[in-house]
Amino acid sequence: MPKLLAPKGTYDILPERAKCFRKIEALARQIFAEYGYGELSTPIFEYTELFQRGIGETTDIVEKEMFSFTDRGERSLTLRPEGTASIVRAYIEHNLAGSGGVGKYYYYGPMFRCEAPQAGRYRQFLQFGVETLGSSDPRVDAEIISLAVNFYRRLGIADLDVNLNSIGCPECRPAYRAKLIATLQPASEKLCRNCNSRLERNPLRLLDCKNPHCQEVTKKIPLITETLCPDCRDHFEVLLTLLDGIGITYRLNPHLVRGFDYYTKTVFEILAGDLGAQNALCGVGRYDGLVAECGGKPTPGMGFAAGVERLLMVLEARNLLPQVKGSPHLYLALLGEKAQQAICPQVIRLREAGFLVETDLLGRSLKAQMKAANKANAILTGVVGEDELTAGKIIIRQMEAGQQESIPLTDLEQYLKDFFRTTNISEK
Ligand code: HAM
Repeated sequence: MPKLLAPKGTYDILPERAKCFRKIEALARQIFAEYGYGELSTPIFEYTELFQRGIGETTDIVEKEMFSFTDRGERSLTLRPEGTASIVRAYIEHNLAGSGGVGKYYYYGPMFRCEAPQAGRYRQFLQFGVETLGSSDPRVDAEIISLAVNFYRRLGIADLDVNLNSIGCPECRPAYRAKLIATLQPASEKLCRNCNSRLERNPLRLLDCKNPHCQEVTKKIPLITETLCPDCRDHFEVLLTLLDGIGITYRLNPHLVRGFDYYTKTVFEILAGDLGAQNALCGVGRYDGLVAECGGKPTPGMGFAAGVERLLMVLEARNLLPQVKGSPHLYLALLGEKAQQAICPQVIRLREAGFLVETDLLGRSLKAQMKAANKANAILTGVVGEDELTAGKIIIRQMEAGQQESIPLTDLEQYLKDFFRTTNISEK
């Protein structure tokens, strides 16, 4: 029988790795709480129209990368390729604007894009992000950018390549778009096939094409930041001043446009050289027209999203993976059927009391069980054989100190409580 494998572009998270994922998730949730964001959890699939309208018909995601299917009622559904459109849909559906003020939401979960898999690019990947709805103040942009930067800094990634741009708004972008088409059209034979097909429909995307021939052509074209309307220019200038004040070092990158149609004004990415071709750790942007585009009252918005797999790749490459202890408090080596059965209820009771207790389930020799205790990094090992059982005792060994003592089995729970209180080991 041929082996069955996980679908292309997906992966399993094995228990050791899962600990790192949990650490990242815990840190993300902690920072989101510190910045005042509340969790908004949306379905993994939505009506396809949401992404067509929200992300834009001419984007790569909508044209080529969505996992869409038809349900039994002939409705087209799509596994969410990102979180922003869904948050906006929920914001409108639950009339969250009605509660007044600025809405601050975060999400954490799997996203799906049918891309060609490669290092750092999956078809199911984990993303977390925040969205702020209801304020056009550049302080929101500064807050979200600093949240992203601080998140990576706290994990030890200090040398961040922070890229920033403003791509204008429906006021000033059409003129730039026209200028772009007029400048690029005469050089169209030098552009790649993808850029040629986008030239009329979405010329801004040509600016961040990675093809060296296209880059040669686009490096000479006028910069969008030189054609911003007064409102976009003021917004950008205030944002830069705020970032300088916060102490965030950024690189102005006039070729940064990002792959969604919903963006207005600020766009931002953090890149990491160690990631190779898929070098974006996170993507950030303002989307002042998206709520109206999805059927709500005009409401400005701004948010960021980051991929967990790419972050783990960077942490791994720099030897910064979070150290997750997770060592058992106690490994119980049990010898003989009688001891195994007699101690079984106690194992459960200790776990109920909050201790991480491991025990052998294969009836192996004492030597094999001690080896397993070592491998699991157990802090204490307890040995109960027939003699100990008859005497109502357990031999406890402190693995690191190498000390050993015999105590009454009935005192075991109290012993653990005292030991872990005095040694201050809180991590389970
Ligand atoms: P995005 O740039 O498409 O933005 O994705 C954000 C991050 O998700 C990327 O920087 C990357 O780390 C990760 N990512 C994207 N695609 C993949 C993939 N195929 N495999 C692994 N990781 C991936 C958004 O999704 C926007 N919704 C961000 C946003 C929020 N803008 C405003 N609010």
